Amino acid sequence: MKLILAVDKNFAIGINGDMLFSIPEDLKRFKDLTIGNIVIMGRRTLESLPDSKPLKNRINVVITRKDIEGVICVKDKSELLIKLKEINPDKKMEEYLIGGASTIESMLDLVDECIITYVDKSFEYDAKIRNLFEDENFYVESESKPRLYEDLEYRYITFKRK
Ligand SMILES: NC(=O)c1ccc[n+]([C@@H]2O[C@H](COP(=O)([O-])OP(=O)(O)OC[C@H]3O[C@@H](n4cnc5c(N)ncnc54)[C@H](OP(=O)(O)O)[C@@H]3O)[C@@H](O)[C@H]2O)c1
Repeated sequence: MKLILAVDKNFAIGINGDMLFSIPEDLKRFKDLTIGNIVIMGRRTLESLPDSKPLKNRINVVITRKDIEGVICVKDKSELLIKLKEINPDKKMEEYLIGGASTIESMLDLVDECIITYVDKSFEYDAKIRNLFEDENFYVESESKPRLYEDLEYRYITFKRK
């Protein structure tokens, strides 16, 4: 599966259940890539979405020990893999892991590509993932030129599993 995520320069991703920043072009890119596909998230990330509602026009799979109406719930990694085989047997849809931090840490071994929006600034945070530049399992496959939104300089970086 692919990880898609917006990070700051320390790979921080959230604070107080919310994102650190919002870049319209990045949100559009996220939507364009994920529409029609499967998004996989932790329970707290579902709760961080507007009205705690699943993302429209995508199959939403939530990792949780709870039972939540309106989404597919799986309790752990092995249940996730069984469910993905069931709903995506021929892999026609992309499978995107979309966060948050604790879910990524426990599921990163399933990820072979990381589609990262990298903002060159440090934010206060309480949710962070490991630094992918320092992870020996991944290398930078491509990197866009810097872009600017208000005072935020950002780049799109794709990491691939070695
Ligand atoms: N920057 C970005 O692109 C981005 C993207 C997504 C999220 N975020 C941010 O990330 C933060 C949320 O991240 P988080 O780490 O606090 O929470 P999270 O990973 O979204 O959700 C954690 C919950 O998921 C379930 N879970 C995760 N891994 C599991 C496993 N291996 N087995 C069983 N259950 C598992 C548990 O749910 P139960 O407690 O229900 O069992 C756990 O409490 C928010 O601030 C959000 O805005 C940022």
